[in-house]
Formats: sequence, C-alpha cells, structure tokens
Amino acid sequence: MQARGPLMIEHRLIERMLSVIKDALMRIESKHKVDPVFVDIAVDFIRVYADRTHHGKEEDILFRELKKKPMSDEDRRVMNELIEEHVFGRQTTKALVESNTRYRNGDETALSDISEKLRTLIVFYPKHIDKEDKVFFPSARAYFTDEEDQTMLSEFWEFDRKMIHEKYKSVVENFER
Ligand SMILES: [Fe+2]
Ligand SMILES: [Fe+2]
Repeated sequence: MQARGPLMIEHRLIERMLSVIKDALMRIESKHKVDPVFVDIAVDFIRVYADRTHHGKEEDILFRELKKKPMSDEDRRVMNELIEEHVFGRQTTKALVESNTRYRNGDETALSDISEKLRTLIVFYPKHIDKEDKVFFPSARAYFTDEEDQTMLSEFWEFDRKMIHEKYKSVVENFER
C-alpha cells in the first residue's frame, strides 16, 4: 500500500459520516428539533477521527515531509489552501459546539445555528476530500521515492497506534479537571 492509502480509506469513512449528518440535518429541519447527543457524537467523530487522526497524519507527517521538497508554486499553494481548510473545519466545529451548548441550555434560536454549521461541514468537506484524492495526493506522490513513501506509511501506522490511548487519556483527564 502507498502512504496515501490509509488517508484515502479514512476519507471514505468521513464521507459516510457526512452522509449520516446529511440525513440528520433533514430530520432537524423538518422536525425543528435536534438531539444534542447526536451533535456531541458527530463533533467527537470530527474532532478525534477527521481532525486529530486524519488531518494529524496529513499535517504532521505528509505536509511536513513535503515541506522538505522543492515543491512547485502550484502544489505549495494547494497545500496551504488545504491547511487553511483544516483550520476552517476546526472553527466551524467549535462554533457548532457553542451552538449545541446554547440549545441544551434552552435557547431554541441556537437550532438554526446548529443546522447552518452542519450544512457548512457537509458542503465544504467533500470538496476538500476531492481536492486531496484527485489533485493533491497524486502530485504529492511524485516528490517521494518508493522508499520515502513507505517510511511515511510506517509513520502513519505508528501515529494511529497512539490515537486510541490519546483519546481515552483525554476522556479521563476531562473528568479529573
Ligand atoms: Fe485534509
Ligand atoms: Fe484528508
């Protein structure tokens, strides 16, 4: 498997979650209510899986290695755009959490903010994935030898191995605060 393999497999699970969110959004808008626990679970998926585990590998390993290469202006531009999109995803998720807290505390006007943030995520994220799968990953692959690519793949597995421990350590630490 090439290094981009696990990243593309992760994209497929993220797409499945986006489709779950899309269905939930239709119910939210037709019933004019939301289950805040659903939003919690969606946020946990986005933060731990899509952001920490997936963007973590992209930014901390793939992009780090690419920065050592003589990238073309266009590839560098796309990489910076992807980094900005990761930031945008984090900001949108943070705003979603804030709206969900307001809704939980009885502020029904927060419902439209929750819908808006969920919609933003399901519209923006597939484009981001598409850009990586079809444009950026193929261009990025050309900068690496097969050996370098396999070294990154090993580092990806090692990164993933730590994730479950990091996730549940943070669960305990949040209770201890
Ligand atoms: Fe990404
Ligand atoms: Fe990605």
